[in-house]
Amino acid sequence: MSRRLNQLLCALAAAWPGTGPAAEEAKPKWLDGLAVTFRPSNGGSADTTVRPHFMLYVPLGQAPTPFVAPGAFTAEWEGVIDLDLRDRFVFQAELNGSLRMELNGAVVLDVTSDGGTTETTGRIRLNSRTNTLKATYTSPRDGDAFFRLYWATPDFAKEPIPPRFLKHAPSDRLTMGAALRRGRQLAAGHRCFACHTDGVPAQGMPELAMDAPALDGIGSRLDAGWMAQWILNPARLRPRATMPLMLHGASIGADAGAIAAFLGSLKSGGSFPMVNDNAKTAEAGQKLFTQLNCVACHTVAGDSLAEGKVALGQVRWKFGQAGSLAAFLRNPQAHYSWNRMPNFALTQDEAAALAAHLFQSADLAKRGSLAANATLIAKGRKLVQSTGCLNCHALKLDNHFTAPSIVDLAKGCLADNPTGAKSPGFAFSESDRAALRLFLREGRASLGQESLAEFALRQSADLNCANCHGQIAMVPPLDVIGGKLKPEWSRRILGGSLAKRQRPWLTARMPAFPARADSLAKGLALLNGHPPVTPPDVPVDAEKAAIGRKLVSANGGFFCFSCHGIGDLNPAQVFDAQGINLARVGERLLPEYFRRWMRSPLRIDPQAKMPAYFNQGQSALFDVLDGDADRQIEALHHYILQGSRMIPPGAPGK
Ligand code: HEC
Ligand code: HEC
Ligand code: HEC
Ligand code: HEC
Ligand code: HEC
Repeated sequence: MSRRLNQLLCALAAAWPGTGPAAEEAKPKWLDGLAVTFRPSNGGSADTTVRPHFMLYVPLGQAPTPFVAPGAFTAEWEGVIDLDLRDRFVFQAELNGSLRMELNGAVVLDVTSDGGTTETTGRIRLNSRTNTLKATYTSPRDGDAFFRLYWATPDFAKEPIPPRFLKHAPSDRLTMGAALRRGRQLAAGHRCFACHTDGVPAQGMPELAMDAPALDGIGSRLDAGWMAQWILNPARLRPRATMPLMLHGASIGADAGAIAAFLGSLKSGGSFPMVNDNAKTAEAGQKLFTQLNCVACHTVAGDSLAEGKVALGQVRWKFGQAGSLAAFLRNPQAHYSWNRMPNFALTQDEAAALAAHLFQSADLAKRGSLAANATLIAKGRKLVQSTGCLNCHALKLDNHFTAPSIVDLAKGCLADNPTGAKSPGFAFSESDRAALRLFLREGRASLGQESLAEFALRQSADLNCANCHGQIAMVPPLDVIGGKLKPEWSRRILGGSLAKRQRPWLTARMPAFPARADSLAKGLALLNGHPPVTPPDVPVDAEKAAIGRKLVSANGGFFCFSCHGIGDLNPAQVFDAQGINLARVGERLLPEYFRRWMRSPLRIDPQAKMPAYFNQGQSALFDVLDGDADRQIEALHHYILQGSRMIPPGAPGK
């Protein structure tokens, strides 16, 4: 290994324990997910990364990863299946392309198909603990490239291999892949290309579209004194600020004051609804804060600053009045569409209660006020035009700032020692700079292409999805979702466009991330081997649907509506856990998931509150469709696919 590469790997390892050579000994050997090396068939350079699922979907004409150009490719998967108990499994694949899989050194699958399902393999014994997995997938000549791999035992029916069993060992190639990705994400997140526009593609990486808070009317929303301190040093007020320090030289304090005076003069007219900031409202706000699990992304007073979380101690100072904060909470995207703070669809009262609570617990009070006059404001306006603010922030004013092309990666914004520099000041660590340099040297072309599967992976990490999913009762873990929901439905949930909450009985809520919804929904499906656009459902067979209706009934059926509403029919007797109205299930669920869930809810969610009705392919209702589980499940599916046209079964006894 070259000395330079080795140095880079060591610098990176310091930042991400478990990825670099130095970390190998101290860390447990196996890490989550499988390692995959994507190789373009035209001989271009390969790219290695980690995927949580042993599934793949790459739409025709799209890149398999951001670092491999679109076109024919192979994907080599490496890792282990790490089991607690030994067992004998059969495997089956659905694919377009070829898949060759070895387990513990023996070839168990070697198939080619143009979209069909392969025969199941014979039973293959896997050991408790680790079983070596090696597989190569080759993309097809025509159409979308995909494979979905399933396994089964006599105890459970066909399912994707659950991600918790898939592990891989660290490697230098993975460290390089991770560093390139880290550099790419840092560059987009810090809006490098808002200034260094040379050779930046018009489309590709979705984050290139990321905006910054609009400045129109900002003087009505935020306190000018706070803005002065923020401009003077964003990273001091928020360690994870992406905005750089733009001012230099001896007059920096006075310049920040002038800019803040100008921003403070930008009023929007109108006023905020009054917030009654008393103890009772604040108490209601505190309760909501807990119920909505705001701590998924925020620290509360007294917490040490956790990685990836934002402290809320400045809100009293920053927002000045509780009404302004309440307006922000009701629509964090109003002036900043890519804001990572999601939209909880709060009512005016809820937002007011939260604002009152946050105002009471804020530990950093307002610090003096900012004196402003016409001269200062005019000076501030000029500075805003000349110091680069308008490269990132929208405001109707001419921008007089320009930046050079990026040539020397040891200079300007990436200089190790920026004393006396004229470039923006970012609070990068040494390993951040190493990753940025590596990316700018070797990975810049990746800005022009995207793999939405990877978009979903990096955004769900950045947005802390897993701090709610898999943590709150009845909120499905994230690694289940992409194989569960139709992407069209996920997009509506993520975008906040459902008219009614799906599970109004939960106190927690799914907040919306509108700017990311479409790409996230598609990416989650792709990660799980499903197309970004769901194929049409099978046409409803009236006879099967009629049998399905009998099966959900209380009379000779499973009495499903004890827990599930069906259209206008309310659940009859919810004891423990309510299920989603069955009339919504057809448009939500991928058919494969519906079958899997019906066969064994516990295989998907070990805490599932829904009873299992089928065992080893048999149903307890043996007089319907010969008691055959698969046929009964199919009948239920045809009934449910009618959606809003479902006719609920009669009440008990009818
Ligand atoms: C607000 C505009 C702006 C943003 C955003 C910005 N830069 Fe710069 N950058 C500049 C300016 C201006 C210079 C020239 C500074 C000088 O003349 O000393 C520069 C210089 C550089 C240089 C030295 C170029 C050379 O060949 O001399 C590098 C490297 C660089 N920037 C990288 C980055 C990276 C990486 C990012 C994102 C993390 C970034 N810049 C974001 C404005 C910006
Ligand atoms: C998915 C993560 C996430 C969740 C959940 C979340 N927030 Fe946020 N929130 C953020 C991020 C990130 C920011 C910083 C946004 C920015 O300016 O870049 C933020 C900003 C804020 C701010 C402004 C803070 C400031 O100093 O500018 C407030 C207030 C806030 N959130 C309150 C809440 C409340 C109340 C809840 C629960 C109802 C909540 N957040 C839930 C991610 C989240
Ligand atoms: C490289 C892009 C970039 C540049 C240049 C930049 N900002 Fe920002 N600014 C941001 C982003 C992004 C945020 C949101 C917080 C964060 O992520 O750090 C922000 C936040 C702010 C805020 C707080 C707004 C809010 O609603 O929370 C103010 C005020 C602000 N910037 C003013 C300025 C001024 C004035 C300048 C010029 C001196 C400037 N910014 C330069 C990107 C930038
Ligand atoms: C603050 C907690 C929280 C965060 C953060 C969060 N979610 Fe959710 N999510 C929920 C809750 C609660 C539900 C169930 C809501 C309901 O059905 O009414 C949910 C439901 C969903 C659903 C529908 C699942 C189903 O089976 O109906 C999807 C899809 C989803 N979330 C995706 C995401 C993604 C992707 C992220 C990160 C970008 C994310 N969520 C972040 C709390 C959260
Ligand atoms: C004892 C209560 C109970 C009974 C009886 C019950 N379920 Fe469920 N069901 C649940 C719960 C709880 C969930 C999980 C709810 C969640 O994810 O929010 C669920 C989930 C489901 C789902 C997944 C829904 C989705 O869109 O995420 C389907 C499909 C389903 N049930 C169908 C049925 C059918 C068909 C029957 C009758 C054969 C039935 N259930 C009987 C409690 C029940």
